[in-house]
Amino acid sequence: MPEPLPEPLPEPSSQIGPLLELSGIDKTFGPVQAVRGLSLSVPAGEFVTVVGPSGCGKSTLFNMVAGLDEPDPGGVLRFKGRGCHAQELLGRVSFMPQRDLLLPWRNVIDNAILANEIEGADRKAARAKALRMLPEFGLAGFEAQYPHQLSGGMRQRVALMRTFLFERELMLLDEPFGALDALTRSMMQRWLLDVWERHRRTVLFITHDVDEAIFLGDRVLVMTARPGAVKLALPVNLPRPRSAELVTSPEFIAIKREILAAIEEESMKSFMSSGQAAGKAA
Ligand SMILES: Nc1ncnc2c1ncn2[C@@H]1O[C@H](COP(=O)(O)OP(=O)(O)O)[C@@H](O)[C@H]1O
Ligand SMILES: [Mg+2]
Repeated sequence: MPEPLPEPLPEPSSQIGPLLELSGIDKTFGPVQAVRGLSLSVPAGEFVTVVGPSGCGKSTLFNMVAGLDEPDPGGVLRFKGRGCHAQELLGRVSFMPQRDLLLPWRNVIDNAILANEIEGADRKAARAKALRMLPEFGLAGFEAQYPHQLSGGMRQRVALMRTFLFERELMLLDEPFGALDALTRSMMQRWLLDVWERHRRTVLFITHDVDEAIFLGDRVLVMTARPGAVKLALPVNLPRPRSAELVTSPEFIAIKREILAAIEEESMKSFMSSGQAAGKAA
């Protein structure tokens, strides 16, 4: 018997307008304006990568879209064409936070089903489904292992599996490969694209690695220095499936040059403004 196919997701074409829209979003934490005038529109099925200087509000953006933080009043947030408060998105979006800690006392399967369990799903059915997904995530036979028995790449795959198991149209991944060495990282990138091509979710993916952003994305967003907004949205018209050699192609390098220039400009700005701040303090 062939494996049953994953549940069909709505066709991107059945979606009227973008899946997610942000317009003029601000977010302030006390004296710090993390995000200002952030606007962004994501059609269903798109893989959008986000790069920008550290501290520019990338995780803040995700926390708002995941429903954990409410933007300041005044901006517009829309999901499936309907204006909403951020908190209404809680549980409607799957989210892998930047510091996604697996629970050390739970084995691989029970870590993977955590979000489903919190949602009140039947634990036995969730476990069975997770078991079927293990091979796809390179974790076959590891169901009973605990996080400390796994390599860094495996732990990341468990966290990703948890995010995929919580089946939502929109998936937010905040620097999921940030802690991995270069080789594991590039393996994980190719693997993620493979999984994504089969499951076809809409993805927002934060990274500080420009190669990774281009290699994975249909579109790369470069954010400004804080307060964060979208500085540049660059389509990546490179064919899929993408192979490792792509990163040395002239098309890839041309895109990379443009992104690096935008980041450089923003990093300079944040460096100068922190320099001025230090100068004032001195
Ligand atoms: N919950 C919070 N309370 C106070 N300040 C915060 C909070 N979350 C983020 N910030 C501040 O907002 C800015 C943007 O942070 P963040 O979104 O984490 O940046 P990034 O993910 O781009 O590195 C930083 O100056 C950070 O200190
Ligand atoms: Mg962050």
